[in-house]
Amino acid sequence: MSGCGDSEEPARQKQIEERPTEQTPQAAPESAAKPAEASHTDAPESGVDYHSFANTDDYRVKHLDLDLTADFENKVLKGEAILDIQRLTQKNPPLILDTRDIDVSAVRAGVGTSLQDVKFSMGKTDPNLGTPLKINLPKGANKVAIEYRTSPGASGVQWLEPQQTAGKKHPFLFTQAQAIHARSFIPLQDTPQVRMTYKATIRTPEALRAVMSANNDPEAELDGVFEFEMPQAIPSYLIAIGIGNLDFKAMGERTGVYAEPELLDAAAKEFEDTEDMLEVTEENFGPYRWDRYDLLILPPSFPFGGMENPRLSFITPTVIAGDKSLVALIAHELAHSWSGNLITNASWRDLWLNEGFTTYLTNRIMQFVYGDERYQMEMALGYDDLQADLADRPDKDEIMAIDLRGRDPDEVFSNIPYEKGSLFLYELEQKVGRENFDKFLMEYFNHFAFQSITTEDFVKYLDETLLKQYPDKLDRARIQEWIFEPGIPEGAPQPTSDAFTKLDPIREKWLNGEMKASDIDTEGWTFHQWKYFLDGMPEKLSEDQLQELDETFDLTQSKNNEIAFSWLMIAVRNDYEPANTRLEDFLTSIGRNKFLRPLYRNLVENGKIDEAKRIFEKAKPGYHPLTVKVNSTIIYGD
Ligand code: BES
Ligand code: ZN
Repeated sequence: MSGCGDSEEPARQKQIEERPTEQTPQAAPESAAKPAEASHTDAPESGVDYHSFANTDDYRVKHLDLDLTADFENKVLKGEAILDIQRLTQKNPPLILDTRDIDVSAVRAGVGTSLQDVKFSMGKTDPNLGTPLKINLPKGANKVAIEYRTSPGASGVQWLEPQQTAGKKHPFLFTQAQAIHARSFIPLQDTPQVRMTYKATIRTPEALRAVMSANNDPEAELDGVFEFEMPQAIPSYLIAIGIGNLDFKAMGERTGVYAEPELLDAAAKEFEDTEDMLEVTEENFGPYRWDRYDLLILPPSFPFGGMENPRLSFITPTVIAGDKSLVALIAHELAHSWSGNLITNASWRDLWLNEGFTTYLTNRIMQFVYGDERYQMEMALGYDDLQADLADRPDKDEIMAIDLRGRDPDEVFSNIPYEKGSLFLYELEQKVGRENFDKFLMEYFNHFAFQSITTEDFVKYLDETLLKQYPDKLDRARIQEWIFEPGIPEGAPQPTSDAFTKLDPIREKWLNGEMKASDIDTEGWTFHQWKYFLDGMPEKLSEDQLQELDETFDLTQSKNNEIAFSWLMIAVRNDYEPANTRLEDFLTSIGRNKFLRPLYRNLVENGKIDEAKRIFEKAKPGYHPLTVKVNSTIIYGD
């Protein structure tokens, strides 16, 4: 994808300033002329990142030097980003970077260390993509220094009040760059096609610790200045900063946890199998190439379960259940060290290459560490999630290589790239045999290590490997159907678990009134079984039934957030009032969109829009900007 065609400077300029929201911001690699009016009846072009303004055919950022001060009082990050750029063109077009709500005060550029002030301008803002920053470069310049500050509402940064943390004494900051939010705290080429190394100095109020997706030093003095280096080239969406009252505890030789002291021991205990996970993944899928693997436990407003920031996954505290029942999340973020961080999707259309492979690997890691029954249950729950999403997505959004042109990737987030991607790989595994498939995966990770690839690159690789080796077992048309057609191909595997299917007749008997809840022998039920049991309940339950379940199993008070969520979904659609307080508490204390979106949608769909609005407005000051955005769409419409 390293394009080298000269792009027409004036044409690009025009494209940026006059482009209505839905057009292509970036010229296709290897093709100079891109139609100004990209029609969405056409297929999206492979390898084009429709979510970046950067002119990556002309320049590529190779290294970033960051120096930022975290000003908690004003909720701004301010300082300088120095970019080392490689020139791919003989001409001298302006350098175009991605920004969003960033205030640029000065830009200097030049060769080596002799930088001079240069002209720059901000282009037209696109609601999904932010604002292009156009920089006039002196001839031959290979370094650009941008002095800037972020806005308090930066989409990729959350500033937390002490009240929102476990310790309640110190503020907290974390960034979340994926998919296109790095540009809200660093002006750069915010596209997964560009990989860079970085160094950073982060200045914090004293007593706080800064950590990054880089080489963290748990011994670093808390003197307000932290230095980092990420020597491996990573895409911008993996740059991450966390600042808070953080301590460190080792879990194994290469693994440890950063967390507020109040959570540290519980987190280290819950995730103590991380080192084993790391080892089995290496044994089966190739070396771990990122030195250490640590976790950063965030406050509960973190909008995701986890984020695979290299060397330091960011993790929601809501998975610390006390019984390791939700640790598949750790396996998932760890697996991204291979699928995602080592081999990266070239554009957000190719997200399934990150998430589908990772979901597949997660299941495998869970089997290695916890055995077959856990593996079956994790797979079966994933399959049910997929079925649920297939039931309520438009056909076009069931395609793995999804067309995101003109759309905000955050709004289109679903289980399709995860679970359909994983099921596809599972089918390949079944067809060629596990041993052969593992060999293929190991070679794949090696072959494309530290590269960003497209769906088409992957298919071509399949053509040259598995399809060639097993022509009698695999066929190209079916692979095409999996990736480019909606739904699931006929005859696809349907993962089930005996531990689940044996619950079906029990649920049935209880529903028919042939059995009392108190007669159900739930002794030894795993979290997964509880979830399956609850998620399999019919749309409508009677007040008596709800009360009986709740009184017998204390579901409204469940300490397991996944169980609480499943129960609250039932409660909302059946107007079960005794759960209202818990619902409000849940929605105001947790920011994970996997829970919030379905709950708010459920409230809206069940005629409780006023209640949804009231709770949302109450919770809003504590929500992450992303959480505010995606849930407002649900509650208030576009
Ligand atoms: N990389 C994702 C989170 C993400 C994806 C953020 C796309 C923004 C855009 C992360 O690895 C993830 O998948 N998290 C899941 C984990 C779950 C599937 C185990 C989550 O947060 O729920
Ligand atoms: Zn993931």
